[in-house]
Amino acid sequence: MKINLSDSRLFNKVYLPLLNDTNRYLLLYGSRDSAKSYFAAQKVLIDTMRKPYSRYILLRKIYADIKDSQFQTIKDIIHSYGLMDLFTIIENPLKITFKPNGNYILARGLDKDYKMKSIKDPTGIWYEEMNEIAFNDFLKSTSSLRGGVIQEIGTFNPEMEDSWITKYFFPPKESYEVESGDFRDVKSIRNDTTILHTTYKDNDFVTEQSIELLESFKDIDYYYYRIYTRGLWGGTLEGLVYHNWDVVDCFPNEEVIYYGLDFGYSNDESGLVKVCFQGDDLFVEEVLYQKGLTNQDIADKLREKGINENQLIIADSAEPKSIQELYREGFAIRGAMKGPDSIRNGIDILKRYKIHVVRGSSNLIRELKSYCWAMDRDGKSLNVPIDKLNHLLDPLRYVALFKNYVPGKRMVKVGSV
Ligand SMILES: Nc1ncnc2c1ncn2[C@@H]1O[C@H](COP(=O)(O)OP(=O)(O)OP(=O)(O)O)[C@@H](O)[C@H]1O
Ligand SMILES: [Mg+2]
Repeated sequence: MKINLSDSRLFNKVYLPLLNDTNRYLLLYGSRDSAKSYFAAQKVLIDTMRKPYSRYILLRKIYADIKDSQFQTIKDIIHSYGLMDLFTIIENPLKITFKPNGNYILARGLDKDYKMKSIKDPTGIWYEEMNEIAFNDFLKSTSSLRGGVIQEIGTFNPEMEDSWITKYFFPPKESYEVESGDFRDVKSIRNDTTILHTTYKDNDFVTEQSIELLESFKDIDYYYYRIYTRGLWGGTLEGLVYHNWDVVDCFPNEEVIYYGLDFGYSNDESGLVKVCFQGDDLFVEEVLYQKGLTNQDIADKLREKGINENQLIIADSAEPKSIQELYREGFAIRGAMKGPDSIRNGIDILKRYKIHVVRGSSNLIRELKSYCWAMDRDGKSLNVPIDKLNHLLDPLRYVALFKNYVPGKRMVKVGSV
């Protein structure tokens, strides 16, 4: 019996090189429906059939979940290859044996029967939903495999950026994240590890219905969309203020444009953003982000950028003197609304928009990725953002607040000229 290992009717192309990868750890992570589990099942099955000695363990946090996931997928593949006669499949306890060579596949849950030592000389483990497995359990399992050729496969959605998996296997995210926020190939910090990132787009067998569902997350829950549709890390995102943004190629052709300005000087950057609104969409581009600028320097820069008296600039009202100076230079500048609730209100307003950041706004993107809520010692959110990395986000907030100002609300205007 022969299975053609390069047959595109059987395999998704992106996974093929991993069929013969002999690294100890293979990490398959990414969006939903990217064929991670299916490929892991294929690999476990093929190794069982072609290796002289193979004892794979299907591992999950809960034993009862294995039957309907890993075990079922392997059974389905055996069926689809028409090989039922060559296997003995027992369901209690779960065990699949390849009759011609006696190799077998077993299952272990971390909730019961967790005695890896009782299995004689296992050669591999497939950790399904690896991010549900605690580091200690992983260490116990991985250290129970010794001698011979060993391989361990981990499949997971990247739910928790600060999980042990990233610390143990991954380099800093900056090294594999491109400007759009997507991931390129990752080289593990361990030289015994291969990492593959995939999305449903890598799966030739994904259904239209699944694609539709995954893409619909974009409008329902952007956080969910990032993890399950694009396969990007979540987790620490819980503390992030803004999830509702993406990167676009260019600023639209829009007549009404606003500028937001934050004054910095020696310690902080002065930040200027260009903003326009189209219904629920907000487009923003970073225009200036620089330390050490005097008000005169800022005026020169504004002119350099083609900003004149016809364009409204909303600026940090904590600096009425600076606003006055720029006004005298001929700019249509006014102070942002301030008030006890202005930060919270401004953030709430911004969160209602789909924020589209123009490519190249790298400081703004960095701020969006790091601007987070302050927490108390127990990790409870204090409902105020940490006052740093906001030299472009604050001016964006000034503009949003200005645009959505409802007279009569508990907010006062100060510093307007
Ligand atoms: N080589 C293949 N041949 C046939 N069907 C496949 C193949 N690869 C994947 N599929 C199908 O694509 C769908 C998604 O695959 P799979 O469940 O492996 O995705 P996943 O990446 O594990 O998703 P999740 O993140 O939700 O666990 C399944 O219905 C599976 O049967
Ligand atoms: Mg899966």
